Amino acid sequence: MIVVLLGPPGGGKGTQAVGLAASLGVVHVSTGDLLRAHLAAHTPLGVAAEAYMSRGELVPDETVIDMVRARLAEPDAAPGAVLDGFPRTVAQAEALGRLLLETGRTPAHAILLDVPRADLIRRLTGRRVCRAAGHPYHVEFKPPRREGVCDVDQSELYQRADDTIATVTNRLEVYDRETAPLIGYYQALGRLTTIEAGGTPAEVTARLAGRVSDLR
Ligand code: AP5
Repeated sequence: MIVVLLGPPGGGKGTQAVGLAASLGVVHVSTGDLLRAHLAAHTPLGVAAEAYMSRGELVPDETVIDMVRARLAEPDAAPGAVLDGFPRTVAQAEALGRLLLETGRTPAHAILLDVPRADLIRRLTGRRVCRAAGHPYHVEFKPPRREGVCDVDQSELYQRADDTIATVTNRLEVYDRETAPLIGYYQALGRLTTIEAGGTPAEVTARLAGRVSDLR
């Protein structure tokens, strides 16, 4: 089973993806996390991606598609995956569709986290993530038990370089232009579920859990 979590930057994809993947018994694959791991390791892919990410622009389709193809071929992804941040363009969605067909998998089901625009900037500029695994926190809405330290793995919390107000504004514009058309794309395929994703993280998790049985 492949589930695509769709939604704007700050929509809560990373926050909800871990529990959703666990409840479906599949892996969580975040292209943002994969790219940030390349960046931290100074791989050629990470070095090439950094300029796009720091401006809030999308990394070229071919790079991301190759990365996802390789990740889905790993043994732990055999039962399926929750894809967080991929696809982000119609070209990526078409490539994913071809890949699933070639590998004999069921077409992806997309879940849209629909969040009022006014909430997004506040969510993003207050976000902190951990160095070890990218676990997300928020200074106001989801503070860690100990300030500056991840509850899960005790690594340091930091603010992502692309969570500044200028970059966030551009990321939202890029979302509207490049990624929002995927809502119509998956709707036309009859493969879209929309979740109202305002309110607290726990309220969103409960709404999502109420729809998960539709996906099985
Ligand atoms: P990526 O890391 O995927 O960033 P994004 O899509 O912009 O999404 P975010 O991680 O910002 O938001 P999220 O929806 O996961 O929200 P979160 O749960 O953290 O991508 C980064 C960059 O990588 C891109 O700009 C691009 O350059 C590149 N890239 C990645 N994938 C690509 C692709 N496929 N193609 C090309 N380029 C690609 O929540 C945000 C905050 O809000 C947190 O602090 C959280 O605690 C808080 N929060 C969450 N839910 C709630 C709630 N219900 N109420 C209050 N606060 C909440």
